[in-house]
Amino acid sequence: MGPITSVFDLETMARKRLPAVIFDYVHGGAGMELTLQRNEDDLCALALRQHDMRDVSHRTMSVKMVGEPAEIPLAIGPTGLAGLTWANGEVEAARAAEHFGVPFCLSTMSICSIEDVAEATSRPFWFQLYLMKDRKVNENLIHRAHAAGCSALILTLDLHVQGKRWADAKNGLSVPPRLTLHNTMDILSHPRWLVGMARSRRRTFGNLQGEVQHAKHLSALTQWIESQFDPSFDLETVKWVRKTWDRKLILKGIMHVDDARLAVDAGADAIIVSNHGGRQLDGAPSSISVLPEIADAVRDRIEVFFDGGIRTGSDIIKALGYGAHACLSGRAWLYGLAAQGREGVLCALKLLQEELSDCMALTGLSDLHNIAPDVVTAQPALRPPGRPGASGPAPQLQGAYR
Ligand SMILES: Cc1cc2nc3c(=O)[nH]c(=O)nc-3n(C[C@H](O)[C@H](O)[C@H](O)COP(=O)(O)O)c2cc1C
Repeated sequence: MGPITSVFDLETMARKRLPAVIFDYVHGGAGMELTLQRNEDDLCALALRQHDMRDVSHRTMSVKMVGEPAEIPLAIGPTGLAGLTWANGEVEAARAAEHFGVPFCLSTMSICSIEDVAEATSRPFWFQLYLMKDRKVNENLIHRAHAAGCSALILTLDLHVQGKRWADAKNGLSVPPRLTLHNTMDILSHPRWLVGMARSRRRTFGNLQGEVQHAKHLSALTQWIESQFDPSFDLETVKWVRKTWDRKLILKGIMHVDDARLAVDAGADAIIVSNHGGRQLDGAPSSISVLPEIADAVRDRIEVFFDGGIRTGSDIIKALGYGAHACLSGRAWLYGLAAQGREGVLCALKLLQEELSDCMALTGLSDLHNIAPDVVTAQPALRPPGRPGASGPAPQLQGAYR
């Protein structure tokens, strides 16, 4: 295949290495995948203003995210089942993040447990919480994250019901994958993945396994999880978490300026403007299209993070130009993990760093803290080579960051 030149190469490698049931889970979104597509297309539709004749020989990319140093303005975002793409996947990704110098966030739905990651790393990591109907389980998870030294809790707000992901339902995605004839053939035709997974310390939900006393079998655990997403989750619940967790609190899944203001009032330290990577409300706008209005309203009072569609360093600079303090990544690092384990995550991070550095130089920027809003301009949408996408008018963006 030649040298790896972009995250898209890692995506191609991941597609080859993973059984379809796992690759589709990572790659796909909810419903018709309109929102997933918009996330990527709307970032592509933005243009960066070129600026020359400035000394950009020294470029500062490091920032702090809720007090944690980050070599580039990006954290490894929470993704469930990462440990099904590579043996001990979350531990490998956390080690890569520590080595590179960016925050790592572990999902509630990870395969490796909070304690596994704490044991394997020395830098404090973040824990992402899905609130369950069983409040005792929530309390236990919060206490375990605290005891493991997690420096921030990301509370995900947008999974009180689960988005319908058609491919996963058709593929019989479960943990571990359901062994239909089709899946068995699929898995057997990916021996590198299979041999790798045989070395994995765990093959089920590492954080929840011990929490659910009556779920002795994996299928019972999976059923329990599906029944536990809580549609009654409201602002009072967020306040309860704020009271229970005394370190940094980040609210993830903010797509409306009113919700951003509620997050400020509830005492959160940061928000993540996110539509869950197009995996929840299919038909939601892209997260980049709502970012300027939200950033305008609250960025003086709270840190504003962004995710959804980041595949290149130029996507990061666009989000910062539109008012985000920093970003999180989902699929970009997951493709790296699935392709090459820890090395692949490092590769994804280095590619993003190099691209970001080049973009800074060519936009005449030596310090990301001095980013000018006019670094980004809206252009007619385009269809980048190798990436399918709808073309049409550029998204209508509002606010000072236009
Ligand atoms: C395979 C996969 C699993 C995910 N699991 C979680 C999760 O467990 N918790 C969560 O808050 N978000 C989860 N997300 C959403 C990501 O944290 C993030 O919001 C999204 O991936 C950003 O979009 P991007 O993939 O285009 O970077 C998941 C995303 C993917 C792709």
